[in-house]
Amino acid sequence: MDTTGIKFIDDLALGEETTVLIRVDFNVPLDNGKVADDTRIKAALPTITHAIESKAKVILCSHLGRPKGEPDPKLSLEPVAARLAELIDTDTLLYDFEVVFPENIAGDDVDTLLTELNPNRQIMLLENLRFYPGEKGGDDDFAKTLAGLADFYVNDAFGAAHRKHASVYQINKFFDRHHKGAGLLIRRELEGLGRVTDRPEKPYVAIIGGAKVSDKLSVLRTLMERVDTLLIGGAMAYTFLAAQGVSVGNSLVEEDYMAEAKSILERARLHNLDLVLPLDHGVGEALDDGEADYTADEVIPDGTMGLDIGPKTREKFAEVIAEASTIFWNGPLGVFENEAFARGTMEIAKAVADSSAYSVIGGGDSAAAVVRAGVAEQINHVSTGGGASLQLVEGKPLPGIESLRPNHPFDA
Ligand code: 3PG
Repeated sequence: MDTTGIKFIDDLALGEETTVLIRVDFNVPLDNGKVADDTRIKAALPTITHAIESKAKVILCSHLGRPKGEPDPKLSLEPVAARLAELIDTDTLLYDFEVVFPENIAGDDVDTLLTELNPNRQIMLLENLRFYPGEKGGDDDFAKTLAGLADFYVNDAFGAAHRKHASVYQINKFFDRHHKGAGLLIRRELEGLGRVTDRPEKPYVAIIGGAKVSDKLSVLRTLMERVDTLLIGGAMAYTFLAAQGVSVGNSLVEEDYMAEAKSILERARLHNLDLVLPLDHGVGEALDDGEADYTADEVIPDGTMGLDIGPKTREKFAEVIAEASTIFWNGPLGVFENEAFARGTMEIAKAVADSSAYSVIGGGDSAAAVVRAGVAEQINHVSTGGGASLQLVEGKPLPGIESLRPNHPFDA
């Protein structure tokens, strides 16, 4: 993506006596009131430490989950504030930093806390923005209230950059071009994902999985124009197989998308695209079945459902991956939450990690899969954005980034 004219945090005149509002994506999984996976918090640390070191007062804001525009204690960012405080201490060596966590996002109490905030040892994290209807509603007044807290605005919430929500989009109306920019995570994401969107080195292989064809139609269409080989796995493969007339037993099939699946297969044939569907499967009677049976070929017996790719498919996919120079992967290849059906996803994660290709994982479940396979370090870029990275790969603009450009209608 062309970033000409977009300012990044290190282009902004942050410093003593200034306040910066940083929109981060702290939408992290919680378990029993604790952060279960802190990848997204860690990914925001370079921007946060940069801001702290500039001596500005730092206010962070984020959404968490999908509350209905009102407070929901289960989705409070309080556990995130606690984890963030630990990470700032241990990862950045800025000892004894306190994360101030006001109950509201604005008002007298926030103003007082902000006036008293000591930038040498405190930062502020606001409560879940989606507790307010104005956030998802893209409300100008809500955006203006947030903007009123700070002199500078930095968007580092790559995972939310595809949303037209107040804190990532409308808020840009209230800062001129010298007072707003993107964070260091967004820069890293655009560089990493840019390697697959801007003239990827060939052979370019995309691995697309996940449950539904309907979620991936648009990215499939775009990738078909760009890749040399398209490997399809996960439950969405069963809709493609069913569209070819293969028996798929009780597997998940999106009847409404059979025609689309057929047209993709037909287009792949006409354009000589190497589109590879599973050659065999790990099957079971239900999602929580304790053991996989493997089919001899692509046919799935009646009474069972496909829940993973089988050994022949793993081998075929791994061969293609080994020859690739660029790899993009989005979506697990089976029900990897269940150990019995995790093997396909885990082995393909290892094959991607072992390949010498530039490899990019497009967020969400596939990012969790490479972490679980213990190979995240060997992947060139693991995106923190699920929907956002797909939208970028589809070549569609991300409102949270477009609105930072000079000459955007919000530019002043
Ligand atoms: C994500 O997890 O993909 C982002 O945080 C966006 O969340 P959303 O899909 O609820 O807008």
